[in-house]
Amino acid sequence: MTPPTPTPDPQSVSTSVTRSAFFIVATVNEDAASRAAVRAWCADVANLARAVGKRVPNGNLSCVVGFSSDAWDRLFGDPRPAELHPFREFGAGERVAVATPGDLLLHIRADQTDLCFELATQLMTRLEGAVTTVDEVHGFRNFDMRAMIGFVDGTENPTGTEADHFTVIGADEDPGFAGGSYVLVQKYLHDMKGWNALSVEAQERVIGRTKLHDIELDESVKPSCSHSSLTTLTDADGEEIKIVRDNMPFGRPGSGEFGTYFIGYARSPAPIEQMLENMFVGRPPGNYDRLLDFSHAVTGSLFFVPSQPLLEALAEREPGAAGTVDTADASPAQPPESEPSAAPGANGSLAIGSLKGAPRYE
Ligand code: HEM
Repeated sequence: MTPPTPTPDPQSVSTSVTRSAFFIVATVNEDAASRAAVRAWCADVANLARAVGKRVPNGNLSCVVGFSSDAWDRLFGDPRPAELHPFREFGAGERVAVATPGDLLLHIRADQTDLCFELATQLMTRLEGAVTTVDEVHGFRNFDMRAMIGFVDGTENPTGTEADHFTVIGADEDPGFAGGSYVLVQKYLHDMKGWNALSVEAQERVIGRTKLHDIELDESVKPSCSHSSLTTLTDADGEEIKIVRDNMPFGRPGSGEFGTYFIGYARSPAPIEQMLENMFVGRPPGNYDRLLDFSHAVTGSLFFVPSQPLLEALAEREPGAAGTVDTADASPAQPPESEPSAAPGANGSLAIGSLKGAPRYE
């Protein structure tokens, strides 16, 4: 008999690919009692996830909780994550990456919808009266890992230590928030009739990969406005900067709704924002992502994901009470120094210098 896989820790950004995911975005109600309830809830998340996860040993249940910039200030005050800011909009006219309300993100993943449903129910029951849900999406894994638009999605994601390298904040870059991450979400709706009216070859030029076999188009034929070209970034040293995506298709065929929930994790919001700028404004401006002729973003929010120890410590924290939580103690252990980094660049410190301040990518 196969031994049960351990339930991944909540707040673990890169988990194995799951069959199901729930995305809940909520605002925290204005009154002090609601803020106190959300703070207290921070200490419950891991226990609830463990309790629910135990019921299906191989179910791969996990939950990531994130806080927006405004929510952080209202709930916890200073100190705050160095790069946390409100969602930045990109684009104009018909093509805009819109910013929409959202203080709290729950990203619940599992191999069974019932596990996601049960954990979402338990977590939201504890938050009753303290938050208002502004968006909730139940995503499903489509055939062959295909996005709603029929192309395999997630192929170029980094995995293992490389994924950690690109998503986990290091102790040297933002010491009180080491082990944390940033996450950006957008809900996209597709014009599937328009998309399906394109030839497969035209769709492949939009994405930059073949549809059936998911092979990258040769540089000689791949347009510079293809989705994969515009979302490929390199830093000043020519090293590629990646993010970890776990997009999910969702929809209601009976209502003509066909969507992709985009979710991207990184150790700084900067590379994800640069990708958005390339897609919506274009690289160079005007050379935008043609996927956006058939997809429009209806939500957009940015969150900070505290490490699990910090999330628990936040339960005791209040604005104006800086210093009551020793976040250095709350930071999880970093990967052992002897662990080889699969990421490009030396000693795992790649690019974070360039991710801070006003980074530019090619
Ligand atoms: C309508 C929503 C979206 C859909 C359906 C979609 C779909 C895809 C597909 C099919 C691929 C190729 C396979 C792969 O490597 O995963 C891809 C690649 C990628 N996408 Fe998206 N995507 C969407 C939005 C976004 C957004 C908003 C971003 C970033 C802000 C993004 C970032 C990336 C990146 C970094 C890659 C890998 C590029 C490479 O290294 O070749 N995607 N996406």
